[in-house]
This record gives sequence, structure tokens and C-alpha cells, in this order.
Amino acid sequence: MEEKKDIQKKTAMLDHPVLTLDDRLLLPAGKELTSKALDELIATNKGTSFQELSFLEYGTVKQDMLHILQKPPCNIMLNRTVTLTLMKKLRFIPPTLEFLDYFKESDFYTYRHSLVVFATSTSLARDLLEEPEDWIVEVMAGAIHDFGKISVPLQILRKKDPLTRAERNILEHHALAGFVLLSYYLQDRQSFAARVAKEHHERIDGSGYPLGISLKDRMVEIIAACDVYDALLSPRPYRPTAYDNRTALEEITGMAQEGKLSWEVVQCLVSHNRKDRPHFRETKVSAEKRGTPPADNLYGVVVEKELKCPNCHGSSIKKKTYKEDVKNISYECRNCGKEFDEDDLINIEMDEY
Ligand SMILES: [Fe+2]
Ligand SMILES: [Fe+2]
Repeated sequence: MEEKKDIQKKTAMLDHPVLTLDDRLLLPAGKELTSKALDELIATNKGTSFQELSFLEYGTVKQDMLHILQKPPCNIMLNRTVTLTLMKKLRFIPPTLEFLDYFKESDFYTYRHSLVVFATSTSLARDLLEEPEDWIVEVMAGAIHDFGKISVPLQILRKKDPLTRAERNILEHHALAGFVLLSYYLQDRQSFAARVAKEHHERIDGSGYPLGISLKDRMVEIIAACDVYDALLSPRPYRPTAYDNRTALEEITGMAQEGKLSWEVVQCLVSHNRKDRPHFRETKVSAEKRGTPPADNLYGVVVEKELKCPNCHGSSIKKKTYKEDVKNISYECRNCGKEFDEDDLINIEMDEY
């Protein structure tokens, strides 16, 4: 118990700089995120007032959300009128809407993912939170949980091949970067949205990042589960085929069994996928795994160094197996089509970012 308390108090340190969308340096790499450092940063933005704009009426958000609501799993899970009515009430400051614009243009997955996580987490919050009227501010956080990805180079977000350890580290930087950026723009380091940006990759058993703390807040648990769920259901650059819904739910059930995600949140997610919509506490979730994860799934695969094909020296390498035999992975070059064992690949050192 004592040990957990200490972990919760860990101070974060930035491994990489935090940059705004217009490339302004907010905090440099190596900065410790103490309350004092954050307050000093926020003070530089005090007095800036933003005119809040309607989330629903912004850009093509309404049209895109309507499209999302027509497709699985949202057409089964969500009530269209309830979602749109709630969105109508929400107002966002321009920097958070610019985040949506940026990703709509440069990485559509992150834009769509932000809308889906907002919608699905809102729907689960309705069942799981006790004071539904209190979460109107909290649900906004789902839409901007990945705000810190503006500090991650697009070539990493779009990379089709396994990330190197250095790249993985830069990708994981988005959690702390989002915390700093949202603290700064919202002028409050304790705002719920900043907390979600920081904690949505933490896990209940402390196995997540950036700090390895134990998730404690119910709404953050909901957003964390919806984040994983949508990531599994979406085609990604490193996995052209998405998980099917059943296999995605099985993966998430497995994470709850391992103590990473909340069992009740997973029950609720499963109940929203059932036509008769049983109460989440009465929803039986089977631990049996019958689905098959997509082949070529590189999620979580990290290589020590960038790999190159020994035949044509191309660097677009596809992993051929998933989970079945992790010790004997084979690779295929997307450029020349040759298949190789891991030992045959050429390792090259990565340039520093
Ligand atoms: Fe994230
Ligand atoms: Fe996410």
C-alpha cells in the first residue's frame, strides 16, 4: 500500500521537448514536471482569453460524427440523438479544435479516433458514473486525450514498420506532452482533460506509461478502455487489417483479466454491444478466446534498430507471424517480396530525432 502511494507521487520528467502546433517550444527535454514548473508555464499564458466554439458546429465535426454513428460498432453501441444533443452543449477553445483540424489533414486516423473515443466513452459514462450531470466537463476529455500527438513527428505516427525503441519512446511522449499542452491552454494543471492526456495509457495494475501509476479514476478508466477498443477496431499503418469486433472485445476482456482495465468497464462495453443491452452488472463476459487477431499486426512490436532488406536494402519490412511463435518470426520485404529470418535482416542505427 505504502509502495503504491509513492508511485502515485512520482514526478514526471520530459524525455522530449513539448511543442505547440506552430512549433513554439513550451518546455525542453529534461524538464521535470513539478507543480512549480507547470505553474510558471501557465503564468506565461495567463490573460490569454479564448472564445469558446461549439464542438458540434465546428468544421465538419457534425457530418463526420454522423458518419461514425452509422457504422459498427457505434451504430450498435450509441444513441445518435443522445450523442448529438450532448455534443451541442459542449464548447471547446480554439487550440483544441485546431488539434482536430491538424489531424484531419495530416493523420485522419487520429482525428476519427478522437471523435470515436469521445462518443463511446460518453455512452459508457452514462451507465457507469453516478452523477451523470457532473461529467459534462469530463466527457470532453475523450475528444482531446491524444492532444500530445501534435508533439510527435508524423513519420512516426504514420510508420508502417515496427517502431524502434527510440521511436516508441517518442510516441509515448504524447501522454506527457498532452498533459503540458492542455495544462497550458486550459490554464489549469489540474483540469480533467490534462489528467486524461497524461493517464490514458496508464493501467490499473500500474503496467502502463508514462509513470506506471495505478489508474484510479472511473472516467479515465472508461476513456482508457475506449481508446484501446477503437485502436483495435481501426486499420492502422502497422496493421492494414483491423480486428473484428468479437476479437477486439476478447482482447479487452483479456486485459481486464490481467488487471489492466476495469472489469466493470469491460462488462459495460460488452453490454453496449448486445442487442438486448443487459445491465452491465448482469452482463456475462466470456473469457474464452475464439476470434483470431489479424495477421501482420505490428502493434507493440519494437525493434532495437531499424531493419533493412538484405536483398534490395529497402526499409519497408513486414512481419509475417503474430503471436503463434514469437521466437521464430519471419519477415517479408514490401519492396522486393523476399522473405527472411530475423538473423538475415540488416540492422542499421537510427538517426537521432
Ligand atoms: Fe494515446
Ligand atoms: Fe488514443
